[in-house]
Amino acid sequence: MTGSTNADRYAHTATTLANGLVLVAAGAYFNSAELYNLSTGIWTMTGNMNFQRSHHKASILTNGYVLVTGGIQNSAALNSAELYNPSINAWTTTGNMNVARYDHTASTLTNGYVLITGGRNRHNYFNSVELYNPSTGTWTITQNMSVARAYHTACTLTNGHVLITGGFKGSTPYRSAELYNPSTGTWTTTGNMNVARSDHTASTLTNGYVFVTGGRNFNTHINSVELYNPSRGTWTITRNMSSPRSHHTASTLTNKYVLVTGGFIAGAYLGSAELYNLLTGTWTTTGDMSVERTFHTATTLQNGYVLVTGGAMRNDRNTVELY
Ligand SMILES: *[C@@H]1O[C@H](CO)[C@@H](O)[C@H](O)[C@H]1NC(C)=O
Ligand SMILES: *[C@@H]1O[C@H](CO)[C@@H](O)[C@H](O)[C@H]1NC(C)=O
Ligand SMILES: *[C@@H]1O[C@H](CO)[C@@H](O)[C@H](O)[C@H]1NC(C)=O
Repeated sequence: MTGSTNADRYAHTATTLANGLVLVAAGAYFNSAELYNLSTGIWTMTGNMNFQRSHHKASILTNGYVLVTGGIQNSAALNSAELYNPSINAWTTTGNMNVARYDHTASTLTNGYVLITGGRNRHNYFNSVELYNPSTGTWTITQNMSVARAYHTACTLTNGHVLITGGFKGSTPYRSAELYNPSTGTWTTTGNMNVARSDHTASTLTNGYVFVTGGRNFNTHINSVELYNPSRGTWTITRNMSSPRSHHTASTLTNKYVLVTGGFIAGAYLGSAELYNLLTGTWTTTGDMSVERTFHTATTLQNGYVLVTGGAMRNDRNTVELY
C-alpha cells in the first residue's frame, strides 16, 4: 500500500531519514512537508516549512537533520535555508546563503559540510560555490566553478570528490565536467562528456563509475547514456535509452539495475520506465507508471522498492506509486 500524499506537488524534494521515513518537502506551491512510513504505507503531515519553495535542494546531514536550500518563490530565487529536526518534526531557519539561487546542486561532503554549486536567479546564472558548516549554521564562499551553470548535476565519488557535469547558462548546454576536492577546496577540469546536456541525471554506481542518462540540448531531447571512469577521468558512451527524456529520475536499485522513470520529451510528459542492467550494459523497458510525470521524485527504499511521488502531470499530482 502506498496511499497518496496530502498535497499535489511538483519540483519538491524527497529525502530518506535515518529512521527510514521519507520526508517530502515543499514544491509548487506548498510550504508543507509530509512523512511516508513504508511499513504502513501511510503519509502523515509534519511541521510546515518557514518558506514555500520549489526547485530547491534537500541534503541529509551527518547528524540526521535535513538541510533545505534556496528554490523559487513567486518567480524569485530564495537565499534562505532551513533545517528539519526529525526528533521533534519541526523546521528552523539557519544561516542564509550568500547567493539566492534555484536549480543549483547540494552535496553533503564526507567532512559533514554541504557544497552548493551554481544555479540561477532569473537571467543570472552563477559560477559561485559556497559551503555550509553544520556546527555553526553559517556559509562561506569558496572557489568558483570554471563556468556559470544551472540544471547541472553533482555526484559524490567514492574518494569524496564531487563531480559536476553539464548544465547550461543561457541556452546552450555544456559537455564539460569538473571536480571539487574537499581537502584543498579547489576545482579541476576533467574529461568532457561526449554529449552536451542539461536536465539529465548522474548517479554514482557501487563500482565508482558515474552513470549519466538523457537530458536535453535546448529543445532537443537526448537518449544517450555515458559512463565516467573516475581513475582515468574519461567518458564512454554506452547503449541508448529507448526514449529520449529530460527532467526524469534515475535510481540505483539494490540488485544491480538502474531504474529510469518519466520525464519530458517535445512538449509531452512520459509515463514510461526502463531498466539498465549494469552487468550486461543493456536496457529493457519495464511497466509504465500509472500516470505521466516530470519534476517528480524517485526514492529507493530500504526494502528495495522505489517510491515515486508527485510531478507536473496532467492530473492526480498527489498520486504515489511503488515499483
Ligand atoms: C512505521 O510504522 C510502524 C507500524 O505502525 C511503526 O511500528 C514504526 O515505528 C513506524 N516507523 C517510524 C520511524 O515511525
Ligand atoms: C567568482 O566569479 C565572480 C564573477 O562571476 C566574481 O565576481 C567573484 O569575485 C568570484 N569569486 C571568487 C571567490 O573567486
Ligand atoms: C543513440 O541514438 C542516436 C540518435 O538519437 C544515434 O545517433 C546513436 O548512434 C545511438 N547510439 C548508440 C550507441 O546506439
